[in-house]
Amino acid sequence: MHTGKGQVLELILEDGHRYLRVACQPNLIPAPGQYLLASDGSNSPLPVPLFYTDLAPQGFVAAAHGTATWSPGITLYLRGPLGRAFSLPLAARRVGLVAYDDSPARLRGLIQPALKQDAAVALVCNSAPVDLPDDVEVQPLSALDDILEWADYAAFDLTRENLHPLRESLGKWNQLAAGMGAQVLLRTAIPCGGIAECGVCAVTLKSEWKLACKDGPVFDWRDL
Ligand code: FES
Repeated sequence: MHTGKGQVLELILEDGHRYLRVACQPNLIPAPGQYLLASDGSNSPLPVPLFYTDLAPQGFVAAAHGTATWSPGITLYLRGPLGRAFSLPLAARRVGLVAYDDSPARLRGLIQPALKQDAAVALVCNSAPVDLPDDVEVQPLSALDDILEWADYAAFDLTRENLHPLRESLGKWNQLAAGMGAQVLLRTAIPCGGIAECGVCAVTLKSEWKLACKDGPVFDWRDL
């Protein structure tokens, strides 16, 4: 974990979502699934998590909810990378990326690593992402069952509140998941990033609870 300064270089509005191109030291760039906590040095009470979506000159492109007042040129105070990243199996050849209840922004960082290992990639979402590689197939959430039957690795992005509905709706798929790689990025508020042990990000797993900010935000499906 590192601390340092960064700078917002560009604001990107795409598919109704806000991305920031951030300049920072290479050791601050999070892996897909990880995040940085960023503040602008003002008196705003809480830092904002910046999730990796893609590499960019001088830094990376961040999925950036909660940064409405930030504009190009602003200096950021950064801490990270924080949390547990996705671990795409080297053997994966059919990768399903499932944005269950939001844009696929936080899953986009898996696209290039998957393509580099010659995997086919299906992105499941109810939005219309742009600027995707031609090789990526986009499917609506109504095709989720089919994609999960097809995939040998699946990565989900969903809110903590939607974990139970997902478990319910994928009951039969649960059996399949036992034999394949599946991971879930659980979105919660992560105000302290684990430093203050505030507990706001607590997640109840099968037999215990964990902190999404440092034990996650990426969890293995079999533990959920
Ligand atoms: S955000 Fe405070 S313990 Fe996780």
